[in-house]
Amino acid sequence: MAIVTIPAEVRQIKEVLEIKKFLGTHNIEYDIWPLEDRVNPLALAKDILTAYKPEIDILKEKGGFVTADVIDVFPDTPNLDDMLNKFNKEHTHTEDEVRFILQGSGVFHINPVDGPVFGIEVWSGDMISVPLGTRHWFDLCTERRIRAIRLFQDQTGWTPHYLSNAVHNDYEPLCLGPDYLKSSHGETS
Ligand SMILES: [Fe+2]
Repeated sequence: MAIVTIPAEVRQIKEVLEIKKFLGTHNIEYDIWPLEDRVNPLALAKDILTAYKPEIDILKEKGGFVTADVIDVFPDTPNLDDMLNKFNKEHTHTEDEVRFILQGSGVFHINPVDGPVFGIEVWSGDMISVPLGTRHWFDLCTERRIRAIRLFQDQTGWTPHYLSNAVHNDYEPLCLGPDYLKSSHGETS
């Protein structure tokens, strides 16, 4: 389940309804979808997409997405660093970034217009939809593994648009945890 961390406030949110409420104030949709009781998370991509068709269809209807796929990333995936380096710098997209995590984990950092930067650690079972135009960046956690459903309107929508006043270097690139919160506290106190 997701964990939201707000370093500037030395605060974490771990309760589902609180996470939904907090992310909702930033127009980010968060939900928990069923996992093993629906389908083996390691099933073939086509079987995964069939199993989650009801949820995907609802998102498609709401967001105008035309298709979905399954991305599989392992520590030995060729050119993994090149792939990660595209998205671990603050950027925006021209369409919503929608992910449902089947296996592994990662962290989205969000730099909202009206508040401090916060991180959203996502794990298997988490669905997140980051609206187009939202300033954000993404890192894998230390095990460098993620399997996720992606929804898209047009693959060109994934193109990251980088920002000249990006702040990603000010934040810990690894997944968040108690040590990160402590070090943030040290910097701000
Ligand atoms: Fe992105």
